[in-house]
Amino acid sequence: MQGHQVFHAPHRLLMGPGPSDAAPSVLKAMSMPLLGHLDPAFIQMMEEIKEMLRAVFRTRNPMTFPVSGTGSAGMEFCMVNLVEPGDEVVICINGVFGMRMAEVAERCGARVIKVEAPWGEIIPAEKVALALKDTKPKLVGLVHAETSTGALTPVEEISRLAHEAGALMLLDTVTSLAGCEVSLDNWKIDAVYSGTQKCLSCPPGLAPVSLSQRALEAAQSRKQKVQSWYLDVNLLNGYWGSERVYHHTAPISMNYALHEALRLVLEEGLEARWRRHQANHQRLVDGLKDLGLSIASQAGHQLWQLNAVSVPDGVEEATVRQTLLNEYDIEVGAGLGPLKGKIWRVGLMGESSRPEYVDKLLLALKNILGR
Ligand SMILES: Cc1ncc(COP(=O)(O)O)c(C=O)c1O
Repeated sequence: MQGHQVFHAPHRLLMGPGPSDAAPSVLKAMSMPLLGHLDPAFIQMMEEIKEMLRAVFRTRNPMTFPVSGTGSAGMEFCMVNLVEPGDEVVICINGVFGMRMAEVAERCGARVIKVEAPWGEIIPAEKVALALKDTKPKLVGLVHAETSTGALTPVEEISRLAHEAGALMLLDTVTSLAGCEVSLDNWKIDAVYSGTQKCLSCPPGLAPVSLSQRALEAAQSRKQKVQSWYLDVNLLNGYWGSERVYHHTAPISMNYALHEALRLVLEEGLEARWRRHQANHQRLVDGLKDLGLSIASQAGHQLWQLNAVSVPDGVEEATVRQTLLNEYDIEVGAGLGPLKGKIWRVGLMGESSRPEYVDKLLLALKNILGR
């Protein structure tokens, strides 16, 4: 076999559904020398990661740390620890990630009651209330920011209803965290997961999670062992808690990256960061309007960090996307499921949420659509 050339990644503007661009200092952090995963310096850094994650999630939950794996590992972590075979759960579905949540719950042996809304719309709290009339589920699961459709579902009322029914409230914040408000303690969220590659602007590879005391008690008082050894919170706590015993070898460089990414988020300030995401979303919406384009998701509930742009009649969605990549080095995402061919998904997440990125995309779209 012939020798291979060194791989050089082309430079793209990452304006799709994730990953977003990472800050240079985050990439630099990944090139630091490795430490052992029980080295005192690494353990000190882990403590700081937990502390910063609590600040970003706006929680005091001691059980807050990054699971080794992507956002889906965070989803599985919550489900495998909280759901036992035969448990009833209510899962809200208005896009791909609600569907995935239902699928993971089913694989844990749950009886899943689905509360569905059309793709692009939010989950109305009244629909959740209706579902909770006839059942006392263990858990209610909701995707805060549906990356597949660009809709942001308000959480507080649904969380209130879940608690009233005696259920735990599970929230997916993969796309929302650090791009718009996420307030775990105020919203009384029991279990949450996120991902590093969206508004935290870190490479994909870790899933920040947090469990409330109630959720932790549910995981600790199970009738059966957690089916997944790797994701069992009772074992992971041995490593991320005070004992510091080996469980698995933590991805050292990813944790360096997350530490730096969280530091940058807090240096900017959470509210300032949300405002930046809002302002760049508005800049995009205004520019799209000038081009005769609009956002497809429900008015009043459109995500700032993920914009579902309607493809105009007579325009080939994939051709425009490929031209953006090949001629302008701009990545945007395609629509999924019922939205395939109907929308482009434009991410303005974290480091990629910049006015100059918006302007470059608008100019490129103007040129391509004008042809
Ligand atoms: C809302 C949401 N949940 C879960 C996931 C799954 O995360 P990952 O692809 O990192 O496993 C994603 C990924 O895009 C997402 O957007």
